[in-house]
Amino acid sequence: MRYKVPFFISIPIIFSIILFISYIFFSSYNQLSYILHPISIILFIIILTLIGILEWINDLIFQKKLKLLKKEERKIFLKKNEGNYFYSLYKFIFNDPKVVYQNVKKIDHGFDGIIELDNKLPVWWIHLFYFTIIISIIYFISYLFLDFSNPYNEYNIDYKNQLKSIKIFEKNSPQATIETSLYKKDLINNGKNLFLENCSTCHKEDGSGNIGPNLTDNYWINVLEKNLYKNIFSIIWNGSKKNPTMRAFGRSGEIKGNDIEKISSYVYFINRKKEKPIKCKLPQGDIVPDWK
Ligand code: HEC
Repeated sequence: MRYKVPFFISIPIIFSIILFISYIFFSSYNQLSYILHPISIILFIIILTLIGILEWINDLIFQKKLKLLKKEERKIFLKKNEGNYFYSLYKFIFNDPKVVYQNVKKIDHGFDGIIELDNKLPVWWIHLFYFTIIISIIYFISYLFLDFSNPYNEYNIDYKNQLKSIKIFEKNSPQATIETSLYKKDLINNGKNLFLENCSTCHKEDGSGNIGPNLTDNYWINVLEKNLYKNIFSIIWNGSKKNPTMRAFGRSGEIKGNDIEKISSYVYFINRKKEKPIKCKLPQGDIVPDWK
């Protein structure tokens, strides 16, 4: 019997298999690019060409066989082969049980009286089995020698991509400036960490002052703005004109605008807080009684 699988069935099936394989191997690189990965496309074209050639050869053999048959035999043969593809598929999957039992080898256990049918496995099943073997070999080799499908390498690649996308995000997302920045309560915790990293050597962990002045009192050397929060932001951004030890963290690019917003929120918070550090540096500058 000769069943020709129609193209509207075979092509989508091949396409989905290749898509599936590409997904396994390339998905970690970039979520969508695997569909259009050059290797997937080339594989698809190669397999289609091979199937075309096979079909062509099969057709040639089929025609040759037909010619060799006698007239009556040919009629019977053609009758057997005619009919819808789906009908033959149905017959193939749900074989007529009578036919199955007639042609099947029986294994006689003898001692327990059970008779076992030694059925032939369906062709599609056997092919699926070969397919899994081939895939496992490909997978094993690529696991050993190539980047993809190795979880450690995949992790590293993903990690690098993540860092890259964070950088791109930071580049494209607008940074806070003196004009746009506002005190935000939910930035205080982040700000504290940044303060400990960048400022505590000169202002102490609690802001009570060391080389730099106490940041928790109402005395200020630098009054650049009318608003306390903006004043803090401005000093961190521009540094102190009176004493270069307090450098221009923002303008020099040492700390980005968004991070200065976090630090300023923290400094504003500890300055407005009722509880003050027990030991503070003596007041420096002038008292500012009413900030806007
Ligand atoms: C190398 C030491 C040093 C570091 C680091 C430093 N500061 Fe200062 N800071 C100073 C000094 C010294 C002054 C006093 C400047 C002046 O006399 O005008 C000062 C002043 C300030 C003032 C103004 C205080 C006032 O009374 O005018 C603020 C606010 C401030 N610093 C915040 C920070 C923050 C926030 C950081 C961390 C990003 C930081 N400083 C890091 C040394 C430092």
